[in-house]
Amino acid sequence: MEELKTHSLRTVDWKDNKVIMIDQTKLPNKLEYVEYSDYHDVANAIKTMIVRGAPAIGVSGAFGLALAAIKSKATTKENLIKDLEESRQILFSTRPTAVNLKWGLDKIMEIAKKGSNVLTMRNLIIEEAKKIAEDDIKTNMAMGKFGSELFNDNDTVMTHCNAGALATVAYGTALGVIRATKDAGKKIKVIATETRPVQQGSRLTAFELKHDGIDVSLIPDTAVGYTMAKGLVNKVIVGADRILRTGHVFNKIGTYQVALIAKQHKIPFYVAAPLSSFDLKSNPEDVIIEQRKAEEVTQAGDKKTAPEGIDVINPAFDMTPPELITGIITEAGIAQSPFEESIKKLFEAKK
Ligand code: MRU
Repeated sequence: MEELKTHSLRTVDWKDNKVIMIDQTKLPNKLEYVEYSDYHDVANAIKTMIVRGAPAIGVSGAFGLALAAIKSKATTKENLIKDLEESRQILFSTRPTAVNLKWGLDKIMEIAKKGSNVLTMRNLIIEEAKKIAEDDIKTNMAMGKFGSELFNDNDTVMTHCNAGALATVAYGTALGVIRATKDAGKKIKVIATETRPVQQGSRLTAFELKHDGIDVSLIPDTAVGYTMAKGLVNKVIVGADRILRTGHVFNKIGTYQVALIAKQHKIPFYVAAPLSSFDLKSNPEDVIIEQRKAEEVTQAGDKKTAPEGIDVINPAFDMTPPELITGIITEAGIAQSPFEESIKKLFEAKK
């Protein structure tokens, strides 16, 4: 395995009218970047998880629309909006659960409508997409600051999936809180679940924490109960793909199990997510849970690990109910039970 550089991972970026991304399918073996100038490639990168994680998908969607605006041959405002609407649909149809994708696309469509001609619209769109990316870092850092107050010196914190720099533009939501806690001078250890079947925990979280010199141990998903029962964990923090007004949290499959076991052992369970991950309109039954291909479960690499033709259920996300959650950390503050009231207040304060 080649030696990887160990500083400043930037997951998604914009340079010379191109989108640059870390190819996360290659991690942890290779730190490779891909460059796109066509929004179809960005849509494909989201679909195939070259880029993944709710905030990173939102930013990628916005950059995808910026590429579409550059490529469009439209000469009138109306025709550019028509082209953008078509591209928006293609980008939006890539992954259904994380609400940040819709958020990023909607922000670009809104700004596009403010331009009076094609040239000003293109400039407004590019500037807005770049701003969305920069704001993501600022938002994560603000969240980190609030969240770090909840963590003490010598805490060992469990996390699930990857809610780090690799799931955002650069700093991370759940792992951003861990970075901020460390930067506040507190000693902190992380236990990362491997997060089957796509291994975001072992491939990405373990990689980026090691990369940044943060103490991390990897466990199989099946060892969550063992480590909690042994007293090896005293807090949990995860990210979110979508949070409802009631405080129901949609996140990587397995999060619900981690929360249930944490409750059994009286271990505080925190969620860190930006306000752009909230969906204040939907009810739990409205949220589409992405179902992924059977091969993720029936194979390890190219090797078959299940009988031919076996029926597979492979949801990418699950829902954790608010009664299992101690607090939701956002850039506007921390929501706590009763969540509906507390979340409402955070949004009002943000206005
Ligand atoms: O399928 P993925 O890898 O896109 O799922 C990512 C997660 O579930 C993350 O925990 C979530 O997006 C939060 S990222 C800050």
